[in-house]
Amino acid sequence: MPPTPIPGTHLDNPFVGATWYVNPDWAANVLNQAQQTGGVLGQKMAKVAQYSTAVWLDRIGAITEGRGLQGHLDEALAQGANLITIVIYDLPNRDCAADASNGELLIAENGLQRYKTDYIDVIYNILAQPQYRDLRIVAIIEPDSLPNLVTNLSVPACAEADATGAYVQGIQYAIDTLHQLPNVYIYLDIAHSGWLGWSDNFQKAVTLYTQVVQGTADGFNSIDGFVTNVSNYTPLEEPYLPDSSLTIGGQPVRSAKFYEWNPYFDELDFAQALRQAFIQQGLPSSIGMLIDTSRNGWGGSSYGRSRPTAPSTNTTNVDVYVDESRVDRRYHRGNWCNQASGIGERPQASPVPGIDAYVWIKPPGESDGVSEPGIVDPVDPNKKFDRMCDPNGQNLYNSAYPTGALPNAPHAGRWFPEHFEILVQNAYPPIQP
Ligand code: BGC
Repeated sequence: MPPTPIPGTHLDNPFVGATWYVNPDWAANVLNQAQQTGGVLGQKMAKVAQYSTAVWLDRIGAITEGRGLQGHLDEALAQGANLITIVIYDLPNRDCAADASNGELLIAENGLQRYKTDYIDVIYNILAQPQYRDLRIVAIIEPDSLPNLVTNLSVPACAEADATGAYVQGIQYAIDTLHQLPNVYIYLDIAHSGWLGWSDNFQKAVTLYTQVVQGTADGFNSIDGFVTNVSNYTPLEEPYLPDSSLTIGGQPVRSAKFYEWNPYFDELDFAQALRQAFIQQGLPSSIGMLIDTSRNGWGGSSYGRSRPTAPSTNTTNVDVYVDESRVDRRYHRGNWCNQASGIGERPQASPVPGIDAYVWIKPPGESDGVSEPGIVDPVDPNKKFDRMCDPNGQNLYNSAYPTGALPNAPHAGRWFPEHFEILVQNAYPPIQP
């Protein structure tokens, strides 16, 4: 196990009063495209480069290759920043229910042990260096992993992650190790309302996460909160659908095809309800929620619609009412790959009580997955083509709907200029040049 903790203070909400790190590698992609684009659109793009995005440690190699973790921390200090967000993303059997972000470690090949010693311990040893003690380091823990244990146990790779305990043990090890540093702030990824909003999923998730946190060395005090909507597109609010039990033509709006009886339409309602549920389970009321708003703005127009400005006036057909009222323009809420949305709220601390911050975890402009089969990423050959990223395919969970994925996409994490342009054009709130 790693060495003794450094004494220091741990804040309730690390984002308050912080100067946030801007990843220069991501900003360079943004500024390069801004320059090539020019004009008013180019000016808007350039504005985006000033915001903080998370640094994804998506392979063991990412800790040291290129700028590397140490390089990012040093650069944060050089910028005069005191807050940096990293994403811990390398569990064995990673992305078990999809293909686009499959990882390098496998449970069957000693992956859990390698995760601990070659990944988490290495990260810890860098973060623990005394020159970083005044940096508030926000650690986002393992996007999609525990949510896959809630809903996707029919997929063999997820069933293996569940049966072996590898996801839970890996996450508990990550928490126990990183929590020894008082300047590290831990937020567990907890999907989004369009995934865990149904009450059976919601309950199962609260039970599972409570057990995971309770099983860590410091129990309920070992985490700072949860983060929703990482890399997803679900809006913060559905301003014209504030009440999911409203009836139209005798039917509740949540029974509309788009919501499939899910009572949670947006991330603010979902995140607040989760926070209350965890406090009820015994977590301290100091826990706060983060919401990834990097791509959940729905301004401009796409998928043949533009953003509504008022609720629908239809009084008889619940599907028409919902489709004319919703700001989320996706064909289906399960569509997760390269959607034609917009940049959402800019990163900011304590936007409303209970929410520690709006954050940009997924760097806007980086792909969710390659749009055609047969292309190998030389740096990360484990990433694969997922049919949810096929622009000509149908949604795998409900074949009545297209994927809505943009064409011409590179592998997950690589710069995707066409997507970035759409995200800027459809930003909501709009980006001023
Ligand atoms: C990819 C990572 C990437 C991250 C941020 C994930 O989908 O798998 O490689 O770093 O997105 O773009």
